[in-house]
Amino acid sequence: MKHPKVTVIGSINGDISFAVDKFPMANETILAKGSALCMGGKGLNQAIAAARAGAQTTMIGCVGTDSIGDKAIAYAKDNGLDLAGLKRVSHTMTGTAGILVNNAGENMIVVSTGANACLTTDDLHTHADLITGADIVITQLEIPADTVRAALNIAAKARVRTLFNPAPATPEAADLIAYADIISPNESETHIITGIYPHDETSASQAARALCALGAKDVLITMGEAGYYVFSQGQSEYFTAFKVNAVDPTGAGDVFNGVLAKVLAGHGSLSDAARFASAAAALSVLRAGAEGAAPDWSQIQDFLTQNATV
Ligand SMILES: Nc1ncnc2c1ncn2[C@@H]1O[C@H](COP(=O)(O)OP(=O)(O)O)[C@@H](O)[C@H]1O
Ligand SMILES: [Mg+2]
Repeated sequence: MKHPKVTVIGSINGDISFAVDKFPMANETILAKGSALCMGGKGLNQAIAAARAGAQTTMIGCVGTDSIGDKAIAYAKDNGLDLAGLKRVSHTMTGTAGILVNNAGENMIVVSTGANACLTTDDLHTHADLITGADIVITQLEIPADTVRAALNIAAKARVRTLFNPAPATPEAADLIAYADIISPNESETHIITGIYPHDETSASQAARALCALGAKDVLITMGEAGYYVFSQGQSEYFTAFKVNAVDPTGAGDVFNGVLAKVLAGHGSLSDAARFASAAAALSVLRAGAEGAAPDWSQIQDFLTQNATV
């Protein structure tokens, strides 16, 4: 069987997290209980979710020449990603996030965009064949908005389907949604873009209409454990999430988008693809951390068989 081809244009980060009893005060030094370096960034997370689900996945992104960049490359290769579109820059560090998590489970996060900011429209023109040769292209907003716009335009000219996850919802998000075939904001991104906070079928339907008024074509709004709402080719439908004992919701949306792209690339309908994506995301929240949380295709299928009546 031919593997569907997914190309992801997006961010690559190293997340350095520290477990602390309590957050430090200004000018205070404290000891952490432990620390971990995990690879992430929405682009890399979504690419890995698509690859584990069985897509032939290519990543266009940018890292530094530092050791975090080396680690990200090794992690991407271990997961079978094609890195033909990867750029390395020496003047800026790989994107990083510093995360503190206290005993109450609260967090404090600082993100440095780093090398992700160096992915330019020229880079996309250099690697246009990786976009035009794909079955579907996914992109998000942890790279420059101009780069996202160029990616969506190159794909549209070649009639390659595009999935735009407008996350995080930067000020440019609203202007970009008209360029994509499908958009997939979560509830807070939908709120920032439309002013409507979707939490059930009625509010999601209002928000979807507001997104269409901004030029969106097909819309998929994810609402965490409240499920998701699909508006496609004039038809709308609300779906509940699978009921699982969530351990860590971090990265659920990334797994959802990666698997959604894989199934769409194989020419599934948006609601069919969303069911596989929802199963994969439910499996991912059973596992701690975003790295390694994405399931493979047989795990997704087994989960759907076991939950066939849900
Ligand atoms: N606690 C959960 N239980 C079951 N499914 C979940 C849970 N959290 C998320 N999901 C699934 O993952 C999808 C994406 O999660 P969401 O929280 O909306 O994205 P993000 O991670 O971007 O905030 C949801 O629509 C749902 O299908
Ligand atoms: Mg969420």
